[in-house]
Amino acid sequence: MTTEFDVSGKVAMVTGASSGFGVHFAKILAARGARVVVAARRVDRLEALVAEIKALGGDAVAVAMDVTSSESIATAFDQGEAAFGTITLVANNAGVADVRSALKIDESSWDAMIDTNLKGVWLVAQQAAKRMIEAGVGGAIVNTASILGLRVSFGQSSYSASKAAVVQLTKSLALEWAGKGIRVNALCPGYFLTEMTEAVFASPESQSYLTSSPARRAGAMDEITGPFLLLASDAGSYLHGVALPVDGGQSIGNM
Ligand SMILES: NC(=O)c1ccc[n+]([C@@H]2O[C@H](COP(=O)([O-])OP(=O)(O)OC[C@H]3O[C@@H](n4cnc5c(N)ncnc54)[C@H](OP(=O)(O)O)[C@@H]3O)[C@@H](O)[C@H]2O)c1
Repeated sequence: MTTEFDVSGKVAMVTGASSGFGVHFAKILAARGARVVVAARRVDRLEALVAEIKALGGDAVAVAMDVTSSESIATAFDQGEAAFGTITLVANNAGVADVRSALKIDESSWDAMIDTNLKGVWLVAQQAAKRMIEAGVGGAIVNTASILGLRVSFGQSSYSASKAAVVQLTKSLALEWAGKGIRVNALCPGYFLTEMTEAVFASPESQSYLTSSPARRAGAMDEITGPFLLLASDAGSYLHGVALPVDGGQSIGNM
C-alpha cells in the first residue's frame, strides 16, 4: 500500500465497532498506525476488540455510545478525545436492518430505523465536525450507506429510505464542510456476511440472487479495505460527497 493510503498517527473513531464492518475498520486502522476509539452499545465486545488490537501492537480505547442519543455521543467523543486528542477520521458506521414488508412496518419500527441509521449518522458527523472546526483541523468522515441507498429491494423500504437519506446527507455535509478541510464520503456496500446479514444469507433466495449478480458472489471482508482507506486517507484528498458502491456490480444489475 502506498504512503497516500497512510493513516498512521491519525486519531480515528469507528461507530458500530462491536461487530461486522466496524470491527474490520477498527482493525485495519489500528494495524496501519491510527489510534482508534471504538464505539457501540455492547462494551464487552469493544473491550475484547481493544485487547486484540493491543496484542497486535496497536492502540485503541473503548467507549460506550448509543448513536440515537446526542448526549451519549458527546460523552463518547469527550472520552475518546481525553484518551487520544481530537478525532479527525470517523467511520460513521453503526446501523440496523429490519426486513419486513411495507404494510407491516409500524411507527415504532420506522422511528427506530430512522433514529439509528439516519439521525445517528447525522449526530455523529455533526459532533465530529464541530470538534474538528473548534480545534482548527480538517479530517475525513466515512459514512456507511448501502447499495440500498441507490436501489430498492422487497421488504427493505425503511432501510432503503434511511440509506438513501444517508447518501444525500453525505453530499450535503460534504458541500458545507469541504471549505473547512473536512471531507465527507460514503461507502455503499452490497452483500457482505456479517451478523446483520447472516440470517438473510442463509436463505435460498439470497443465494440465488447472489449467484445471478454480476460478480456472482458476496463480498469478502478484505474487499472493503481498499475502498474504505481510499475515502478515509489522504489518497482521497480530492474526494468530496462520493457515494462509492462496493458491491460486485449489484448496483448495475442487468434488466
Ligand atoms: N453487511 C452488509 O452486507 C451491509 C451492506 C450494506 C450496508 N451495511 C451497513 O454497514 C453498517 C454495519 O453493519 P454490519 O453489516 O457490520 O452489521 P452488524 O454486524 O449487525 O453491526 C452493526 C453495528 O452497529 C451497531 N449499532 C446498532 N445500533 C446502534 C446504536 N443505537 N448505537 C450504537 N451502535 C449501534 C452495533 O453495535 P451495538 O449493538 O453493540 O450497539 C454493531 O456494532 C450498517 O450501517 C449497515 O447498514 C451492511
